[in-house]
Amino acid sequence: MHLFKITLLKQVVVEMNSIALGRLLLLVVTNSLLVVVVVHGRTSSNVNHALIISSCATTLYPNTCYSTLSTTTSYLATKNDVIQLAINKTKDTLQNNFHTINNLTASTPNLTKRAKIALHDCLQMIAATLERLNMVMQALRTTHPASNNYKSLVITLMSTTITNKETCLDGFSHDAPCKRLRKSIITGQNHWGQMCSNALAMIKNMTTV
Ligand SMILES: *[C@@H]1O[C@H](CO)[C@@H](O)[C@H](O)[C@H]1NC(C)=O
Ligand SMILES: *[C@@H]1O[C@H](CO)[C@@H](O)[C@H](O)[C@H]1NC(C)=O
Ligand SMILES: *[C@@H]1O[C@H](CO)[C@@H](O)[C@H](O)[C@H]1NC(C)=O
Ligand SMILES: *[C@@H]1O[C@H](CO)[C@@H](O)[C@H](O)[C@H]1NC(C)=O
Repeated sequence: MHLFKITLLKQVVVEMNSIALGRLLLLVVTNSLLVVVVVHGRTSSNVNHALIISSCATTLYPNTCYSTLSTTTSYLATKNDVIQLAINKTKDTLQNNFHTINNLTASTPNLTKRAKIALHDCLQMIAATLERLNMVMQALRTTHPASNNYKSLVITLMSTTITNKETCLDGFSHDAPCKRLRKSIITGQNHWGQMCSNALAMIKNMTTV
């Protein structure tokens, strides 16, 4: 059994105590949240989890990071694989949010003009983010020699996705009907925003792209 204790203060501190082989006990402790995950399995299948844990340790939202990535059945050999998985999962979440907002637009009676614009703009932000993630994915799939310029391009692409999330939510700050809609979509938007932030942190942590 391996015991991983991740405490999130300003920085993330990872302590590992090897107790026995074959089982993995993960404790993620943040300011407000305690998550305990017990994974049964052979040491070989724990390789993924160790890599996911060390990749997630560099992010601002390690709980979101771990919970979205740990369900994978893909074999992950490198941190680049983890980032590609994170981007795939982020795309799935974005697509769900796109449909949720699209449905909200269709099913809410008497939307104000402002509310319609805000919903439409938010859908555009989500579509633009999906496009950016496709570009980032393409970059990650191409093998490049160590190139700081290339890494900074990918970081720039990824940074715009976080701005897109803010732009989406800002559109709902004008009046009471918009603010009501904002309440119904904010959790979903923050979720993909956190996933984008996590992918950005993992990309920044790569030595090469
Ligand atoms: C990401 O998604 C693509 C397309 O669906 C797939 O080919 C690829 O294997 C996925 N990568 C990971 C690491 O999950
Ligand atoms: C959106 O509406 C369609 C058709 O009614 C439905 O199949 C789908 O599950 C809905 N998606 C979400 C995310 O609410
Ligand atoms: C929507 O607007 C129509 C016409 O102005 C009105 O009759 C109806 O009651 C409104 N519905 C809601 C849910 O506000
Ligand atoms: C990646 O993160 C680890 C652990 O937080 C750190 O020790 C390392 O210096 C980082 N590498 C880069 C290139 O930022």
